Amino acid sequence: MRQIIAGNWKMNGSVGGVGAYADALKAAPGHATLIVCPPYPLLPAFAAALAGTAVGLGAQDCHTGSSGAHTGDVSAILLQEIGARYVILGHSERRADHGESNATVNGKVKAALDAGLIPIVCVGETEQERDAGEAEDVVRTQLTHSLPENFAGLIAYEPVWAIGAGRTPSEADVAAMHAAIRAALVGQFPATGADTPILYGGSVKPGNAAALLALPDVGGALVGGASLNAADFLAIAAAAPGG
Ligand code: PGA
Repeated sequence: MRQIIAGNWKMNGSVGGVGAYADALKAAPGHATLIVCPPYPLLPAFAAALAGTAVGLGAQDCHTGSSGAHTGDVSAILLQEIGARYVILGHSERRADHGESNATVNGKVKAALDAGLIPIVCVGETEQERDAGEAEDVVRTQLTHSLPENFAGLIAYEPVWAIGAGRTPSEADVAAMHAAIRAALVGQFPATGADTPILYGGSVKPGNAAALLALPDVGGALVGGASLNAADFLAIAAAAPGG
């Protein structure tokens, strides 16, 4: 299966930077599927710049509802309408900064699926939880409660303590967690769980991408900081197996 390399720009980027970035991604030879997830206001410019290409476009969040009195929120339907195909949901920064529970994430995943978007659902433990030996249990609980019965999409395993930190779990720990996630998905979704892509995220860089992407059950990467530079993002994609 082609690996998926998704860039999470978080609250970064500018209108002026869209054209050159999109051009770089379009020109890349690539054997991995690329997805870029910029802030909401940049989605229309990216949708225009990437139209007709294989590069995917995603948002970083959506509301549980389809419309209504929710100041500052954005519906999955509108995201779909302006050209997004994917939406990151349950990122640890949303869970921490906005108090999003597994139940909230579940509602957002349902809304995304109803709108025809492909959710990228993030799970991952804190450092304290890992030190306490609870990492797999925490992630299993997140999967059980964040994913609705009709889930179809991608999972991103992002240990909270590795995000933006310049350090990653050991390859053995990433492999063990991805195996645990695979087993949980197969249990929860017998028909599709074996094929659901599981991305790794948290300080993926050009220098560590090849080792991380080669691990069993790693189906790609969710890249934060290193996705802001097109050359770095493409170097990560080039490190995906299959090239
Ligand atoms: P990072 O972020 O690559 O900057 O660690 C990953 C993420 O939060 O998606």
